[in-house]
Order: sequence, then structure tokens, then C-alpha cells
Amino acid sequence: MLTVVTISAMQRRARQWQARRIPVAFVPTMGCLHAGHLSLIERARQAVGRNGQVAVSLYVNPTQFGPKEDLARYPRNFSRDKRLCRQAGVDVLFAPSDREMYPAGFSTYVVEERLSRGMEGAARPGHFRGVATVLAKLFHIIQPNVAVFGAKDFQQAAVVRQMVNDLCFPLKLIVAPTVREPDGLALSSRHKYLSPAQRRQAAILWQAIQRARAAVASGPRPAAKLKEQLRALIATQPQARPDYIEFFDPQTLLPVRQVRQGTRLALAVFIGQTRLIDNAPL
Ligand code: PAJ
Repeated sequence: MLTVVTISAMQRRARQWQARRIPVAFVPTMGCLHAGHLSLIERARQAVGRNGQVAVSLYVNPTQFGPKEDLARYPRNFSRDKRLCRQAGVDVLFAPSDREMYPAGFSTYVVEERLSRGMEGAARPGHFRGVATVLAKLFHIIQPNVAVFGAKDFQQAAVVRQMVNDLCFPLKLIVAPTVREPDGLALSSRHKYLSPAQRRQAAILWQAIQRARAAVASGPRPAAKLKEQLRALIATQPQARPDYIEFFDPQTLLPVRQVRQGTRLALAVFIGQTRLIDNAPL
């Protein structure tokens, strides 16, 4: 496995791939890799086959964190991530520095203006501007044929798909299913922040999804009522505090009044100081 840290070296490599018509699948990450990330890498390999190239980026992108968020303490473990990538059969690991990605005077950003407004976009102003900007840069640098994202960040995948269409990136997007712990909790790099007691309480996100699924199985339900029920359920965990609970149309990402099968649920819940998100179709 090759590790590349400069944009110019990565671009050279990408140009060689292009010239030789070698298909490239790309998995962007912020590192602290877990089985969710590894499932995307597997999916990427599947997409391009043995003769293709799988590229993974490892970059904790500062522009997608708010001023009061966890950028400084976001878990970093480069040597472990490198080993996991090598074991997973990654061909190239791109791990640029902040100075490389955002040199002094950087002033151009990409803003998606429809799908990024609600949920994570409303709760984390500027978040998707940072995500879209860094991904536009990474797509330009690596020039993949395929990029793989996780359904764990459903809204992110929708915003990226919109950007890819609107800005004519010549690549195919794959969205892979969320990988979960045995108790249903979606794997996340932020689990490192949780105490054992908090980790147990974090299963409430999955229980809320299950509760909503059970509720709509017997017919449409008013979103407001169902939200109240989920709030009450989440309140049974002493350290859990919902940030938002949203029932929305999976195409438009707009909130719905009536929750029915096919509606999607997304929720963000603080467990102590740690903010976790999850989503699923109902
Ligand atoms: P990060 O949180 O590291 O996630 C990288 C990719 O892994 C995303 O596509 C995310 O949806 C996926 N992922 C995370 N947890 C998962 C799980 N439990 N199951 C399946 N996939 C999972 O998302 C980001 O980084 C950044 O915003 C990034 C796209 C890299 C831009 O900076």
C-alpha cells in the first residue's frame, strides 16, 4: 500500500490511472477506522475488481466542524488506520495535512442549498459547506470513477449526490448499508468518547428506530405524536437528550406530517456530551 501526503503526488498518481484506463474507487474518511469504514472499502473493491485501484482518504476536515465542536479532540490514530487499510487491501492511502488542503488564503467553498438545510445542516451550521468543499477537492485530486459512502450519514450522501450531479463530477456514487453493533448501535468513531454506562444508554437510538418501525407497521401515524413517544422513550436513559428527531421524505429530505412505511427517520441524540446520529427507513 502506498501512502501519499501531498496533493501533487496524488494528482500524478491519478493521472497515471486515467492514462491507463484503470478504474478507481474512492472511500473518503476522517480516520479512526471501524468496521463501518471497512465495509465501504470492501464495497469499493467489489466495484472496481482486482485490476482496479482502491483509494482511501484519511483527513479530519476542519471546515466541517463548528467552533464549539470536537475538532481538537476528534480521535486520531494514524498508525492503526494505516495498518487496517493495508490489511483491507487498500492500494493508496491519501493523508494530506491541513496546510496542504487549506493553504493560507484559501477562499473558495461549495454550498449545496436545498438538501443541506434541515437536520444536520440546521443543527450544525456550515457543516455541509465544509463536507461539500473537502469532497469537491478530494474528487478533483483523486478523480475516482466510483465513490463509496455510508447510509449512516444519509443526509451527507444525499448532499454529495446532489453536488456530484450539479457540478458534473464524472463519478458514480454508491451508498452502503450502516454497520451496527449487536445491540443495534451504528458504529461511529465518536464511541471513543463514551463511558461504559453511556455506551449502554446509546442503544436507545436504535430502540427509537425500532419503536417507530413498530408504530407505522399498523398504519400511518401523525409525526408530532410519534416524535413525542420517541422523546419519552429516549428520556428513559438518564444521560440521553435528543437534539432532533425528524421524519422525512427520503428523496426531498423534507419533513412529513404523516409517518408511513417508506418515510425515513433520522435522529441526533446527546449521550452526555457526545452527539450521536442514526437514521433508517421505516
Ligand atoms: P467519517 O465519519 O469518517 O465517515 C466516513 C464514511 O464512513 C462516511 O461515508 C460514513 O457514512 C461512513 N460510515 C460511518 N459509520 C458507518 C457505519 N456504522 N456503517 C457504514 N458506514 C459508516 O463522513 C465523514 O467521515 C466525512 O464527513 C467525510 C465524508 C470523510 C468528509 O470529510
